[in-house]
Amino acid sequence: MVEVLDLKFKELISAEEIQARVDDISNQLNTKYEGKNPIFLGILNGSFLFIADIFKKLYIPCEVSFLKVNSYQNTSSTGKMKELIGLNQSIEGRHIVILEDIVDTGRTLDFILKTLEIHKPASISVATLLHKPEATLIPISLDYVGFEIQNQFVVGYGLDYNGFGRNSSSILIKVDD
Ligand code: IMP
Repeated sequence: MVEVLDLKFKELISAEEIQARVDDISNQLNTKYEGKNPIFLGILNGSFLFIADIFKKLYIPCEVSFLKVNSYQNTSSTGKMKELIGLNQSIEGRHIVILEDIVDTGRTLDFILKTLEIHKPASISVATLLHKPEATLIPISLDYVGFEIQNQFVVGYGLDYNGFGRNSSSILIKVDD
């Protein structure tokens, strides 16, 4: 059992299992994107370890850049607004691979895809370390999924609970008291 702030977690996916899937996905990306000079767009903060581990295994010519999604309350409406920060190079005509930590409801990824499409890339594909199919409300095609997991809160390997828990090399799942 591992405690992160006031919650208890146990190991769900070991560091070795993660690295094996990272190797599989990197191999697929090396094959699919050979000669395409893709730009990998890593979504911070939760993906930082996934981005780094994938990127180290790529041997094709490619670039990496980092984006962040800010959520804020719009004073004139009740809904949460989202803003994509960090897109400071042209992606027009380029092949894009989004690297995400987890797809939960799918709202964040849906927003990212819609925002990037405006900039007319040649293609966009998505690699996510984790997917919670039962929680996903917006159907999005995910090209590379590390692991499908149950609809429970997880931390570790970059994912956090109120900022903590990112520094676990395995994925930990919340357990009830
Ligand atoms: P979505 O918009 O509901 O798909 O949520 C995506 C974002 O919510 C992820 O990029 C994470 O930052 C966060 N998130 C969703 N589920 C979890 C979880 O189980 N642990 C930690 N963060 C999560």
